[in-house]
Amino acid sequence: MKNIQILAISGSLRSNSSNTNILKATAEIAGDSVDFQIYEGLDTFPHFNPGIDEDNEKVAHFREKVKNADGVIICTPEYAFGVPGVLKNALDWTVSTGEFNDKPVVAISASPLNSGGDKALASLLFTLTALGTVKNEGSSLSIPNIKQKISADGKLIEIELKNQLELILINLLEQINKKRENR
Ligand SMILES: Cc1cc2nc3c(=O)[nH]c(=O)nc-3n(C[C@H](O)[C@H](O)[C@H](O)COP(=O)(O)O)c2cc1C
Repeated sequence: MKNIQILAISGSLRSNSSNTNILKATAEIAGDSVDFQIYEGLDTFPHFNPGIDEDNEKVAHFREKVKNADGVIICTPEYAFGVPGVLKNALDWTVSTGEFNDKPVVAISASPLNSGGDKALASLLFTLTALGTVKNEGSSLSIPNIKQKISADGKLIEIELKNQLELILINLLEQINKKRENR
């Protein structure tokens, strides 16, 4: 059986992004048992326009990556109480083609504030429901006070966060395996 492939998507384009660092830390936790890839290039997509779904190379590449992944982990900041436009734009490009449909997906939000980006997370979960992803109560995580939990160079400072990421990864792998067994 082929290695499990996980596609990780950060909602932040910022260098030294805490959200991207969380994905890098999750990749380390996953180790060699899975093929873990962090997607780069969300900012190269055109603005979503349902009337112009011509073959855009970047969008096609993203759709292919999502399609081939066994599971997806999205980790995002909250901007103005919502999901960053660049992430929502990428997700909107998959609505008509359905790559996320029936795909095990984890949603994480992280913020330097106490709220943990909970409004962006709630909004993201609504979108994932619309996209038809596979998720359960263990598929989402809101991380408050992120600056105290992971360093700017991506080192996990807080053991509780490591445990939470481990749990969310185990839950995702369980859902992926369940799906494989039902094939
Ligand atoms: C334009 C803008 C709007 C923001 N709005 C929110 C917000 O609504 N809620 C929140 O928790 N943080 C907000 N923040 C702070 C981000 O959570 C913070 O910059 C975070 O570190 C971004 O994630 P990153 O480190 O992965 O880039 C905002 C930041 C910017 C630049």
